[in-house]
Amino acid sequence: MMKGLSGRHILLGVTGGIAVYKSAELVRQLREKGAEVRVVLTRAATQFVTPLTFQSLSGHPAPAELFDSTAESAMRHIELARWAEAILVAPATAHTIARLSHGLADDLLTTLCLASSAPLALAPAMNQQMWCNLATQSNIDQLRGRGVHLFGPAEGDQACGESGLGRMLEPEQLVQRLAGLFSEPCLDGVRVVVTAGPTLEDIDPVRYLGNRSSGKMGYAVAAAAEQAGAEVLLVSGVSSQPRPKRVECIDVRSAVEMHEMVMRRIPQCEIFIAAAAVADYRPVRQCKQKIKKEFFHLRLELERNPDILADVSRLADGPFCVGFAAETERVAEHAQTKLVAKGVDMIAANRVGQSGSGFESNENELEIFWPGGGVKLPQTSKKKIARQLIELIGQRYKQPER
Ligand code: C5P
Repeated sequence: MMKGLSGRHILLGVTGGIAVYKSAELVRQLREKGAEVRVVLTRAATQFVTPLTFQSLSGHPAPAELFDSTAESAMRHIELARWAEAILVAPATAHTIARLSHGLADDLLTTLCLASSAPLALAPAMNQQMWCNLATQSNIDQLRGRGVHLFGPAEGDQACGESGLGRMLEPEQLVQRLAGLFSEPCLDGVRVVVTAGPTLEDIDPVRYLGNRSSGKMGYAVAAAAEQAGAEVLLVSGVSSQPRPKRVECIDVRSAVEMHEMVMRRIPQCEIFIAAAAVADYRPVRQCKQKIKKEFFHLRLELERNPDILADVSRLADGPFCVGFAAETERVAEHAQTKLVAKGVDMIAANRVGQSGSGFESNENELEIFWPGGGVKLPQTSKKKIARQLIELIGQRYKQPER
């Protein structure tokens, strides 16, 4: 079974070209590789083939309409957009390519493409003149520039009797290319614990000390580790991020709870990634009742929280430890000091308090250090940078001399 596709959620968009007959075979082959497939058609595609063909092959309804009153029980389009781990439009006609390049959402498929954060791949299929047309080419350039993957087209004889570029790739080629979108399983079978989000330290039943961590980076790291083949446990502070698929999640609130949960589960893991923004201090006393504003001054006494990362890295036979360092200045220097002080195997440092990286942002840039080396990962989405970080962790974890 092709590792990269096993268990993956593939949304196949089928548009109205004669190559649709190959898409039916594509669904069959994807399912053979262990992928779960949902198919969405455009209205033009239904002129070539009925949704029933795809429903039978995929085992799920294959809708074409955005507003379908009969599909009450079917997945709604936002759920479907979230469900997808990759979207492949095959065949992709010149018309749908044009719609996608302009960000139109005038049917179910284009709406899904806009609403999903999953990688999008297109398998163009059209007459060679239509493919060569500058309008199509400039649409393709635009889409490529936005990171859309182009699978083909191939050169050869066409249904219209002409010959040239514009043939859709064969189903087995599309399956191969799609599998390539999923990262190499560099942590295959490795058990990973990730902490994420802020810890909240209660003062009384309605107030707490918190911080601005959103959990985005830690959740992206957990998802990337899972995609790299790891068995992942995510111990998360309060965060509104959607839970990564196939990741065991445990919710905690305070640093003490996070510490307790991590220490309980750490003996069964090989890698620990501490991405949580753990409060350094907690109130000495948690008032049972809401504190009233009786006094002009109120003194809050704080005590140190346990350092989860330092405690894990001190364990004899402990896991490979990766820490994060959020700094507002002299990032590299502070991170390297922390690497030694906490005795960890790797530290990922980012600058906080500026736009484009750090807390709440969708993007990040990281400077990664390990004993005797380091690398800079330039600014990109937290999802992408998480995948790069996991790849580095995979490499370092396997180094015999570490
Ligand atoms: O010491 P500092 O908080 O700057 O270190 C940051 C790193 O240590 C992060 O990886 C964070 O998740 C971890 N940490 C921890 N427990 C604490 C404080 C920080 O695990 N109490």
